Amino acid sequence: MKTELKPGIYWVGAIDWDLRDFHGYITPKGTTYNAYLIVDEKIALVDTVKEQFKDELLDRVSEIVDPAKIDYLIVNHLERDHFGSFSGVMEVLKNAQVYAGERGRNGIRDIYGDRWTINGVKTGSTLKLGKKTLRFIETPMLHWPDSMMTYVEEDKVLISSDAFGQHVASSERFDHEAGWDLLDDAKTYYANILMPFGNLIQGLLAKVPELKLAPEVIAPDHGLIWTNPGIIIDAYNRWSRLETKPKVVIAYDTMWGSTEKMAHILAAGLIDEGGVEVKFYNIRKSPSSEIVNEILDSKAILIGSSTLNNGIFPSVGGFMYYLKGLKPKHKIAVGFGSYGWMGGAVKEITARLKDMELEVMEGLDLKYPLTRAQEAQCRELGRAIARKVKGGR
Ligand code: FEO
Repeated sequence: MKTELKPGIYWVGAIDWDLRDFHGYITPKGTTYNAYLIVDEKIALVDTVKEQFKDELLDRVSEIVDPAKIDYLIVNHLERDHFGSFSGVMEVLKNAQVYAGERGRNGIRDIYGDRWTINGVKTGSTLKLGKKTLRFIETPMLHWPDSMMTYVEEDKVLISSDAFGQHVASSERFDHEAGWDLLDDAKTYYANILMPFGNLIQGLLAKVPELKLAPEVIAPDHGLIWTNPGIIIDAYNRWSRLETKPKVVIAYDTMWGSTEKMAHILAAGLIDEGGVEVKFYNIRKSPSSEIVNEILDSKAILIGSSTLNNGIFPSVGGFMYYLKGLKPKHKIAVGFGSYGWMGGAVKEITARLKDMELEVMEGLDLKYPLTRAQEAQCRELGRAIARKVKGGR
């Protein structure tokens, strides 16, 4: 079945139902690798797919045109999930010219030398296909140095590379077909991939009028296509400004249950105070991508670990390392945990939270088993965090 976004513009990507880990980003719903075929007097293919999905891409193209008749292959960026089948596809396309941003062009030459003609483009460069005009917009570090977007001017279709995507494998291709909370999937994707680049996204959104972009359709490289782009643009505006809610994420791991008990008492203290949403995760049992989704717009994060070998659990260490790379900002952060004979976990959690330049409150390091007085201390800490969260920044 052909999937047409606008007359002459087709989705020809591949569906990866089984993907569960996208370079460390846990993807319980799989993903798609979207590619788009634009048919006019000249024919352009925008992006390819992950290497092992090449035949799926070419089969979809073949339903519409003979792949050998494609004139241009546009490479919006070089990450392997979109570029991995590049050489295999080029062997079938034979005579196509390649267009990429200048950094992308250099990257392709680094890998393949002068095997093909590669045209470097800049923001504002255009490529006329007939009635349709492709205009290119460089978006460096969103999220690769060579990233760019391709705008089909007459149809107002923005092929947005990785921005505005979601890691979802589905039979549906468009936002209005989704019978689930697609924006939440987009939020998970934003939090796990684009959170470090909020300033750049703000810069791009501010330049939309100058760039003369008025997309009616946003076609990302992953997941469903936005036919109501205002929803996702508004969300990107909020997320990139790092707006927070009175929400607290508790994420912990536990050895024999005391740290878990502390997590429950902290949650009870937060709830006592009222007006604060609480999200609660055992790190070892929960997809890190889901925890990060909730952290994106939370006002506080509470990280707990039992002490193991004078330090933190490997699960907590791995999660904190992952989180640090995503550069969360403007959040209150607190460490907590219990120990049997010698502490160390809370000290290490606190040091790591300070290293992330968060607003770190004094943590709570309690010896197992918890006394009534310690439980009360823990509950009061929960209340104090709630008051601070509700008091604004
Ligand atoms: Fe979906 Fe940056 O690759």
